[in-house]
Amino acid sequence: MIGRLNHVAIAVRDLDAAVAVYRDTLGAVVKPPLPQPEHGVTVVFVELPNSKVELMAPLGADSPISGFVERNPGGAIHHVCYEVDDILAARDRMKAQGARVLGTGEPKIGAHGKPVLFLHPKDFLGTLVELEQV
Ligand code: CO
Repeated sequence: MIGRLNHVAIAVRDLDAAVAVYRDTLGAVVKPPLPQPEHGVTVVFVELPNSKVELMAPLGADSPISGFVERNPGGAIHHVCYEVDDILAARDRMKAQGARVLGTGEPKIGAHGKPVLFLHPKDFLGTLVELEQV
């Protein structure tokens, strides 16, 4: 059911240092930082030929990733995002399979302006999974 890998998100404390790793060491195409106050993060998109990496740093006092960054001060993979054609059908399938959908279970508009849902990492091999309708 899932389609393409849309992005891998890496949470970091120091966005400038993270940009330097991807731009200077790895030689990737790195876009300017995008503050997303409604999501409590500042995001930098790293454009790869076949997908994206998103470097995220906490923004504001109650960022949803501040705890994660405190536990992983050197940075860590935060989630992977897979594309789906129909997010409500995907959600219903996940629930029928016994997987836990986080939050209210209703899709929210994500960082790319498209509907997203997050799935419990304990149901997906220890990895937080984002589904995005494209
Ligand atoms: Co994401």
